[in-house]
Amino acid sequence: MKELAGRTAVVTGAASGIGRALAERCAAAGMNVALADVEQAALVDAAKAAERHGTRALPVPTDVSRPDALRELADRTLDAFGGVNLLCNNAGVFAAGGPVWETPLADYDWQFAVNVMGIVHGIRSFVPILLEQGEEAHVVNTASMAAVTASPLSSAYFASKHAALSLSESLYLELTQLGAPIGVSVLCPELVATRIGDAERNRPAIYARKDEDPDGSEHPQREAVSAALREFTAGGADPMVLAERALDAVRENRFYVLSPEGAGWRRACESRLDDIRDARNPGFVPVTSND
Ligand SMILES: NC(=O)c1ccc[n+]([C@@H]2O[C@H](COP(=O)([O-])OP(=O)(O)OC[C@H]3O[C@@H](n4cnc5c(N)ncnc54)[C@H](O)[C@@H]3O)[C@@H](O)[C@H]2O)c1
Repeated sequence: MKELAGRTAVVTGAASGIGRALAERCAAAGMNVALADVEQAALVDAAKAAERHGTRALPVPTDVSRPDALRELADRTLDAFGGVNLLCNNAGVFAAGGPVWETPLADYDWQFAVNVMGIVHGIRSFVPILLEQGEEAHVVNTASMAAVTASPLSSAYFASKHAALSLSESLYLELTQLGAPIGVSVLCPELVATRIGDAERNRPAIYARKDEDPDGSEHPQREAVSAALREFTAGGADPMVLAERALDAVRENRFYVLSPEGAGWRRACESRLDDIRDARNPGFVPVTSND
């Protein structure tokens, strides 16, 4: 979709970080934007920031883990703007894990509900509308470089991002087979300076860690992973850089939107792909910065 001006974008997770930057860059490109998030005050603030670019912005409180919330987001977007051309399924959460066998079930449930089912609900609510419109459109799903690498101690997050990538690949193939004028991109950010290390602020009570941590004490390994993520992301890329990278991919109809070539994340990705191609046992390439 080369021309963005005058068209409409929907961005989930738009109150903070990469989503907020996506909403702003869409507005700066001349698009009206529906912004969706669970953090209501920050969402209103993000909508005001988008509107400064001279287009319209609609904040819609939305929990992407709920299918009805995505249907309502679609209805409100159509009511306000009459159509939709760009869907950014971006909302995501990170819960620091220990080993696979010690990761609380609640951590799997929460991260899969937002990072995977959030994308599924977005696709199920919006893609039929995009097909019906028959106009040029594009879907951007935010996965992560975690989607193309292997790591110990954050299994639920990594598995959820691998699932986000796989869903995106299936969607791309299906829309291509249909000959629909709808592009798909999967955004795989490296470390980005956002509030992802503080994602626990949005954990709903239904996903509270219970049986696995009965005395309420934090797992020491889990705390170390959390602290490391906060430290590494603080020195990460500017979210605006990721937003521009995503919009370039939309304009150029590119599917894989990976971290820059030659950098640590790309080396880790290449190492994993080599392991798979040569049927070698998995190796771990730790990445602590974007260099
Ligand atoms: N920051 C990084 O280093 C990094 C790297 C790779 C991928 N990502 C991915 O980027 C995406 C955006 O994260 P970010 O880094 O900007 O973090 P962030 O915490 O700054 O922003 C995420 C937003 O998602 C919202 N959100 C959380 N649960 C939600 C729900 N159920 N429904 C709707 N909104 C919800 C939060 O309120 C927040 O505004 C996520 O999918 C994340 O996994 C981030």
